[in-house]
Amino acid sequence: MFEKNLLHGKRILITGGGTGLGKGMAQRFLELGATVCICGRRESVLKETAAELAAATGGAIQALPCDVRNLDAVEAMIDAIWKYAPLDVLVNNAAGNFIARTEDLSPRAFDSVIGIVLMGALHATMACGRRWVNAGHRGTVLSISATYAPSGSAYVVPSAISKAGVEALTRSLAVEWGNRGIRMNAIAPGPIPTQGAFSRLLPRPELEKLALDRNPLHRFGTVEELANLAAFLVSDGSCYINGEVIRMDGGEFLQGAGEFSNLGRALSDKDWESIKPSKRGSTKP
Ligand code: HXC
Ligand code: NAP
Repeated sequence: MFEKNLLHGKRILITGGGTGLGKGMAQRFLELGATVCICGRRESVLKETAAELAAATGGAIQALPCDVRNLDAVEAMIDAIWKYAPLDVLVNNAAGNFIARTEDLSPRAFDSVIGIVLMGALHATMACGRRWVNAGHRGTVLSISATYAPSGSAYVVPSAISKAGVEALTRSLAVEWGNRGIRMNAIAPGPIPTQGAFSRLLPRPELEKLALDRNPLHRFGTVEELANLAAFLVSDGSCYINGEVIRMDGGEFLQGAGEFSNLGRALSDKDWESIKPSKRGSTKP
């Protein structure tokens, strides 16, 4: 799908790159020639992923433990990276999320998710963006959002608030920093099986089935599909895409929005036959 050296020479930081989608993107970027840094809170997970991906791809990958909620820790990590060379790409991927009734959430529960998703993305974006602006260095930020950012969603309210904020940040800075050569985009994926997401959001088989039934393609997305879209969006092949949120959900969002879209499940072939005009008399006056 891509030229082998599509990302050659690019230095990319992926927050939350030790697991799930972040790990999948790290692998794809390495295969395409990028140098990759991954961060997260658990050093052992990061080191294991870095060793695995270095062995699998032969690429250069560095593991940096960092809690993105902590501004000082993010600044220290970005300083350490910049000591070698500036980054070219930041991927805001780290997240916290779980399903819960909103009335049951404590202030710490809100803090925890908003701290990781919204403040974490803001900390990392500002740390890179300021350095890029001051040095006149071109840069790209890609944030991983969720399809419910524009609509909101029941039972994941802290995440919905945070992802909406990340999308607003993306669109705002796309304009403000565009003339400085900084591109801001986001991907809004539908469900993609990862241990982190599915254990917290679809913790029972019947919930997974519900999610599958909502999808026109009747399947979940794959890590590889997400990683390929991300590779395109951080590459120079997409240089004129700025301020966009690309939904990648097999049509699930639209399925939920269309007034009549659920008729496929409500009406059988026999029902459709019976409501054809020939079966119920002419509708012409
Ligand atoms: C209610 C909960 C809760 C739950 C935690 N809390 N889980 N409240 N229901 N299921 C509350 C705790 O009681 C506590 O409040 C507060 O949240 C902080 O919890 P801690 O465990 O102390 O926090 P921490 O160790 O920082 O963990 C953060 C976390 C955890 C977000 C709670 O789940 C985590 O580390 N997640 C990281 C990975 C992740 O979530 N990946 C999924 C992303 S998927 P009190 O008041 O009791 O102290 C995603 C997909 C979206 O975003 C779209 C899918 C289709
Ligand atoms: P995941 O494997 O749980 O990934 C989340 C990552 O974030 C973990 O590696 C975690 O590592 C890291 N993280 C959490 N808190 C952090 C913090 N404070 N500082 C630094 N890193 C932190 O889940 P995923 O499914 O791959 O999700 C990746 C992204 O895709 C998220 O933005 C999520 O919202 C988005 N998304 C996923 C889906 C899906 O279905 N999978 C759908 C839509 C959107 P540590 O715990 O070690 O810190």
